[in-house]
Amino acid sequence: MKGVILAGGTGSRLFPLTKVTNKHLLPVYDKPMIYYPLECMAKAGIEEVLLVTGGNNSGDFIRLLGNGHEFGFKNLNYTYQDGAGGIAQALGLAERFADGDSICLILGDNILEYSIRESVKRFRHQGQGAKILLSKVENPKAYGVAEMDGERVVRIVEKPKEPKSNMAVIGIYFYDSKVFEIVKTLKPSARNELEITDVNNAYIDRGEMTADPVNGFWADAGENIDFYLKACNAIAQNGANKETA
Ligand code: DAU
Repeated sequence: MKGVILAGGTGSRLFPLTKVTNKHLLPVYDKPMIYYPLECMAKAGIEEVLLVTGGNNSGDFIRLLGNGHEFGFKNLNYTYQDGAGGIAQALGLAERFADGDSICLILGDNILEYSIRESVKRFRHQGQGAKILLSKVENPKAYGVAEMDGERVVRIVEKPKEPKSNMAVIGIYFYDSKVFEIVKTLKPSARNELEITDVNNAYIDRGEMTADPVNGFWADAGENIDFYLKACNAIAQNGANKETA
């Protein structure tokens, strides 16, 4: 399995903090935000990682992270997304890097209290299709929301006005190599982006989607300034990417 981390986008919800730098370079407690998804990959045993950046500050990632050996990766690869055409567009840039392998995709502003090692194991065992991770939230309207039938996800709606559950689809996803064919079929959404939710619904339609619940806290540190502050405080208090007890 290979890893893809997204650190593009405009960061407009954290303006003016992101006026002269990339959101993922901002500090979250005692480290730059991007360290958390990188550590998450490393602790899950994923050794080959592609970082997708964008905007004016992409050179800073190389200065900060170099070849990724500090995190224990065999190699840290970089690519550049022109504009911010959506999470699925950024993922599409990883096709050659993936080279037929399955991938774990992490959004660069998502931080978990506990390691994803168990989900990685389960997805390896699953062998094909996709897996998403779900976390119970108080503000589902801000996220992709899972419509459930018992343990099964039957539909995901992106930022619904009337959410059918309070289970958010967090920004960590597992896909087999078919994902790149699915990305090529997508049409831009109302916000003019290729949506990761459309990719996930395609797997649901094929009956190839599984979901795991998240243990401990999940932070979308890029959601807005209040969530950014909450993420800093939660990590100061509890730490991040810990091994499950
Ligand atoms: O955090 C989880 C949520 O992330 C999910 O529940 C939603 O289903 C999913 O669409 C996404 O929602 P957001 O609206 O919060 O995504 P955002 O635009 O903040 O982008 C998430 C990350 O992806 C962020 O770290 C920047 C990166 N990104 C985003 C876009 C639009 C890129 O690298 N390129 C892009 O074009």
